[in-house]
Amino acid sequence: MKKAVVTGGTGGIGLAVARSLAAAGYEVTVVGRDETRGAAAAKEIDGRFLRADLSLLTEVRALAARLAGEGPLDLLVTNVGGMWVRPWTTAEGLDGVFTLNHLSPLVLTENLVDSLAPGGRVVAVTSASIGSLPLAGELEYRETRVAGDYYGMPASGRAKLAHLAYVLDLADRLAGRGVTVLAADPRHAATPNAAEMTPEIVPPALRPHWDDIMLGVQTPPEVAADPIIWAATNPDLAGRGGLVVGLDREPADALVQPLTPALREAAALLTARTLAVALR
Ligand SMILES: NC(=O)c1ccc[n+]([C@@H]2O[C@H](COP(=O)([O-])OP(=O)(O)OC[C@H]3O[C@@H](n4cnc5c(N)ncnc54)[C@H](OP(=O)(O)O)[C@@H]3O)[C@@H](O)[C@H]2O)c1
Repeated sequence: MKKAVVTGGTGGIGLAVARSLAAAGYEVTVVGRDETRGAAAAKEIDGRFLRADLSLLTEVRALAARLAGEGPLDLLVTNVGGMWVRPWTTAEGLDGVFTLNHLSPLVLTENLVDSLAPGGRVVAVTSASIGSLPLAGELEYRETRVAGDYYGMPASGRAKLAHLAYVLDLADRLAGRGVTVLAADPRHAATPNAAEMTPEIVPPALRPHWDDIMLGVQTPPEVAADPIIWAATNPDLAGRGGLVVGLDREPADALVQPLTPALREAAALLTARTLAVALR
């Protein structure tokens, strides 16, 4: 039986992904913070729940060590992430938005790279919030938290874009080993994270479109999960590392477009500098 891990697989889009993978015959491990939600999800998918707060890099590393000790992994879906109305700081002192959307899935993935089975896959869940970046001023990677006014949607998009830079790099690194690294964008869905959104989360220029945005986040998670499940399971995508799967299973090239070589380098430098301190 193929083994899959879905972070945040106990609710929202991740649970919809976990259900589909279980139905497709994977032995699925879901990760989340809450034991009750975890037990319910594990029961529903006839899989396993592992508890970890993925905003804490110590817990990310402990989870990775446990998973790595269990032998080859066929599929890793790094799904946990989101956007928040107010900036927040993790209990380890890192910016919460940048950590949960980028540093945490990067640390988990890096610590599992050697455990990925030949023919295996990594699917990083990205976000159309990247599209809001041009409305939020200069795009830069000098510090983990955005300078100036904070708006949750572009702050999340900025972290997701840094993660896409990592995905492109990792896809190249692992291509020779037969491991395919993809990203997938669910666009929007009615989930616990989306339920916390208020108009302050978007830059003022986007507020006239708030009703449309709220309409989007009524999409059932099962529908939004489709590009992720497609990226995770479609055999034709083997070897297509670096692809971002978007709406209607089409390539979402626009999401990587802002990544100039200079921005990619800046994101990688900021990531390395931050992790060098955080993981000391
Ligand atoms: N919803 C949207 O409209 C939308 C749009 C574009 C992209 N996305 C992306 O899709 C992904 C999933 O989004 P979602 O809206 O489904 O998120 P969500 O509502 O926050 O997802 C809930 C799941 O994540 C777990 N989780 C949350 N914080 C966690 C933490 N610190 N450590 C471990 N598990 C945690 C929850 O379990 P516990 O609470 O028990 O920990 C639950 O399993 C994210 O990467 C998001 O950026 C979502």
